[in-house]
Amino acid sequence: MMLSLKSTTPADWAQFALRDFDTFLIDHASCERKASAVGMSFVVRYPDRSRLVEQMIQFSREELEHFHQVYRLIAQRGLQLAPDEEDPYVNLLMREVRTGRDERFLDRLLVSALIEARGAERIALIADALEDETDARTLILHNGSDAMRFLAEHPIDLLILDYQLPGANGIDVYDAMRRHPRTQHTPVLFITANDKRAEFHRRGLTYIRKPFNLFELLTTVSARLDERRRQSASS
Ligand SMILES: [Fe+2]
Repeated sequence: MMLSLKSTTPADWAQFALRDFDTFLIDHASCERKASAVGMSFVVRYPDRSRLVEQMIQFSREELEHFHQVYRLIAQRGLQLAPDEEDPYVNLLMREVRTGRDERFLDRLLVSALIEARGAERIALIADALEDETDARTLILHNGSDAMRFLAEHPIDLLILDYQLPGANGIDVYDAMRRHPRTQHTPVLFITANDKRAEFHRRGLTYIRKPFNLFELLTTVSARLDERRRQSASS
């Protein structure tokens, strides 16, 4: 579940970020790395909360994976990571954190959730702005049941499906789609960090392995969309 934000980011923020995309990427890499570190700091501070520890280790690994992906983009562009800078937004939020073990625990979780929600809002703005660079329209669905609900109502040309989803795996979502008359023919491109290659091959499913680069993703997506256009032209 994502916290809902009281205020929205100004609409021209994405244009501002895209104007200096290199700086955006370097800053974004540091956000991913900090998210991973925050997850591990919960593990260290609250080792007695075993359910949280399991989730936080998983979260930290995912964020580290994101950091690695963004780092590769940075390296491909001939750029370097930058040293950490003080973040006034985070500092102001941290000032609200109460003292006392339980209070601090709850407030730090809330602050992290707020930062995560703001990050997700802004990444969606960047995705919208990047969409203007291609002829495809994109929509982000946050979990398998949202995807199923949306796809049952709206036909799409391609679903990019992460193997690792909150509370499910991509193959389960795929199987559910294939059982539903409205989604049984929707083309799917999987993204996976797990070594599920044997299963993907056995079932003839198309996938990209994480970490992938943006060029690889865009070329695979265009190939799938072209194939889809050819199929609908011939039927
Ligand atoms: Fe992330």
